[in-house]
This record gives sequence, C-alpha cells and structure tokens, in this order.
Amino acid sequence: MSQLAKFPEGFLWGGAVAANQLEGAYQEGGKGLSTADVSPNGIMSPPDFSMKDFNLYHEGIDFYHTYKEDIALFAELGFKAFRFSIAWTRIFPNGDEQTPNEQGLQFYDNVIEELLKYNIEPVITISHYEMPVHLVKGYGGWKNRKVVALFERFAKVLLKRYHTKVKYWMTFNEINVLLHAPFTGGGLLFEDGKKDEQAIYQAAHHQFVASALAVKAGHELNEELQIGCMIASMVTYPYSSKPEDMFAALSQDRKTLFFSDVQARGHYPAYMKNYFEENGIAIQMEDGDLDVLQQHTVDYIGFSYYMSFVASTDPEHVKEQTSGNLLTGIKNPYLEASEWGWQIDPVGLRTVCNMLYDRYEKPLFIVENGLGAVDTIEADGSIQDDYRIDYLQAHIREMKKAIGDGVDLIGYTSWGPIDLVSASTAELKKRYGYIYVDRDSEGKGSNKRIKKKSFDWYKHVIATNGEEL
Ligand code: BG6
Repeated sequence: MSQLAKFPEGFLWGGAVAANQLEGAYQEGGKGLSTADVSPNGIMSPPDFSMKDFNLYHEGIDFYHTYKEDIALFAELGFKAFRFSIAWTRIFPNGDEQTPNEQGLQFYDNVIEELLKYNIEPVITISHYEMPVHLVKGYGGWKNRKVVALFERFAKVLLKRYHTKVKYWMTFNEINVLLHAPFTGGGLLFEDGKKDEQAIYQAAHHQFVASALAVKAGHELNEELQIGCMIASMVTYPYSSKPEDMFAALSQDRKTLFFSDVQARGHYPAYMKNYFEENGIAIQMEDGDLDVLQQHTVDYIGFSYYMSFVASTDPEHVKEQTSGNLLTGIKNPYLEASEWGWQIDPVGLRTVCNMLYDRYEKPLFIVENGLGAVDTIEADGSIQDDYRIDYLQAHIREMKKAIGDGVDLIGYTSWGPIDLVSASTAELKKRYGYIYVDRDSEGKGSNKRIKKKSFDWYKHVIATNGEEL
C-alpha cells in the first residue's frame, strides 16, 4: 500500500437513508400502502396485512415534514452527498397506474432542491426495501413478469424528471436481500412459509432486467448519469485452512456476488447456471433479455458493509452462531460484536473493496456502513458516542488503505446519519446517527434533533477530506 494514499478530490462523503425508515407520513400526499407499511416487525418477520399492530415505520422520524431542518444539519456536517430512496407508493400508489402522483413527485422535488441549495449531491436509490402492496396482492410481486414494465415506468418518471439534477443513481437496494427476506426484496409470499428458490430466482431475473432497462433509459436521457447496482456485501472467511472450509466460504460469497456479477458483467455466471440445473430451477426469460443484461451493465458498484462472515464444514463451529445483517452466521473468534451481535471487522472492508475492484474493475461506492448502538443522553444533555466514532474511524482507515491498494473508491455514505427506524428489527433503540432523534421504539418522544459527539468528529473528517480521523 502506498503510504501517500489520500482520498481523491471530490470524494463523496455523506450519509444514507431509506424512505420507509424515516419519512413517516405513510398516508399523506396521496401515498399508497407499501410492503414496509405492513411489516411492523421488520424485514425478517412475516407481514401483517391486517395492520393491527403498532408500526414504527408509519411515522418514521417524520422526515416528510422535517426534511428542511434535517438537511440543514447535513449541510452543517459538510455533506457532499446524501443518499435517499424514493417511495414507489408516493409516485404510483398502487404501482400500476398510468400516470404518476404529482404530489409525491413534488415532495422529492423539494428534497432535491433543498440538497442542491447546499451543494449536496443527491444520490437516489430507486427502490429500497419496499414496493406497493397492490403489486403483491394483485400480481404476486416480482415473480410476475408484468412488474418489470411497471418498475420501468416508475424509474423512467424519476429519471426524466431528475436527470439534469441527479447524477448518481442505484436501482435496487441490496438486491441480494431477495434470498434472505423475499417479501421485502421481491414482494414474495410463500403459502407454507418455506422459501421457494424457483420463485426467488425468477424474481431476481425480473429485477436484473428491470435494472438494466433503467440503466438503458438513464443513459439515453443523459450519458453522464452514473447508475449503479447495490449489494449487501458479505465477505466470508474460511473458519480454518481446511480446503473444504475454503470452498464453503467461496460458495457462500457466490450467493451474493451472483447479483453483482449479472449486473456488472452482464451475464449469468457458469456457477449459477450449474446451481440452477442441479436444483431443478428453470428461469423463464423473454427474447432479448440476455442482450439487455449484456448491453446495459451498471457504471459502478454500490455496496453496504457492516460485517464479515465465516464458513465452516465442522458442525462444532457451525453451532456457534451470531446474528448479522440479513444472515445469522458463525462466530468469528477474532472479532468483537455490536450489541446486536454484528461482528465488527474494519479490515474486512479493505478486503471487500479489493475483491470487488479486482472482479469488476468499476468504481466502487460504499453506500452504507455504520454501528447500530444504544445511545444515552447524559445529565448535561450530551451524547458521548465514542464507540461509534471508533467503529467509523477504523473503517475509514481501511478505506484509505484500499485506495492505496489501487481501488477506485468514489464515495462513502454512512448509514443513518440521523437516527431512523431499523430495518431488521423495526426499532429506534438501535441508532446509527450523528444526529439523535428523541423518539423511542414505541414512537414516543419530542422528535427533537440533538447532535451527538460523533457529529463534530464526522464534520472534521469531511472538512479534512479524511486526512484527520
Ligand atoms: C442495510 C439496509 O441492510 O442495513 C438498511 O440497506 C438497514 O435499510 C441497514 O437499515 C442496517 O440494518 P438495521 O437492521 O440495523 O437497520
């Protein structure tokens, strides 16, 4: 690694959020019901269409009404970029209307204008963990081919409206979530509760095609647009040097890399074709699908990174499990874990950056990373979140090393710069922000924003372009 490694000029420092986790106002402005609106217990639990249970997503942190104050705080942090998603149901409440809901678009017009006012680059995720409930009930979610055209219409509305103002886009957040939370990822429901791989991979194919069509539409409108994929990166270590453990780690990584392989290389990899054949999975494709995938690959690789994983063929090691992002996994004896059991591994981030860059040779954008923790307000009103600073500092250091290794890294938007509702557990107790939101998991509190210790720290990191951590 070069000792002189520096973050490049124009590096996109900022934060990332998702509409359903912070906007609230779930029935305002003509918005329809989304899959998040019927998931009161988070993405890993079954939906509740009766909507009897309390659902923290319905009010989020009320960003729908507070976006101006919140963006002013991001500007104070010195953000260069802000990643957010568009709620499909604000634009097409049912998903299959012919014309978009102008009121919904107006909200995002306002958010984008507000960001541009402070020279903050808007980074849009077209679909982050939600789709219209109507497309689940009436169409069966993404396993239905018709959803491809409906998504394409949605994406084109956004691209046409914002292509002169927004350069960076992503199609599907953590597209590999389909494997782990098929309802959230693809609006898929299974009668007996057992995951059906045929339906999951069929839905994945439809999302690949839909994503490639969005890339096509974006580039036709404006060839300067940068449209990326987004995967939950999951680097897996072999538990031991036993060759079988190594192969188990490789196989586990392929489950994730399959998604970026198709979107970045433009074709189905051989290992996946074999897997389909061995497991009796037959993907229905239309004429031209493979050409679309080949011709409209992504411009960059967006990914989240929270932790690393371990694979083993030894049942004794497999027994020792810990929880994690989208997956539970084997405990790594060398790592500490967060209060939620997610194993903390800054070096893993350097490894992931190198792996992805070696594999695709396309720019990388770390669009999520962070520590979910319980924060306490001290008697003097301050929040001393040194643990968060330690986590972020260690990860940013490794990013810098990755740049020194030769990786083309264009940005870093840490997760939840302002506290928001967690995805896996639908709670507000688990916080990621530099900005505290006075609201608890029962939805109680003043909703006041308070700067944590990490606020000034991150501000300084950005101001020195990562030179002083
Ligand atoms: C990512 C998601 O998997 O992890 C986010 O893209 C999510 O939506 C983030 O919030 C952190 O997970 P959690 O469960 O702690 O909110």
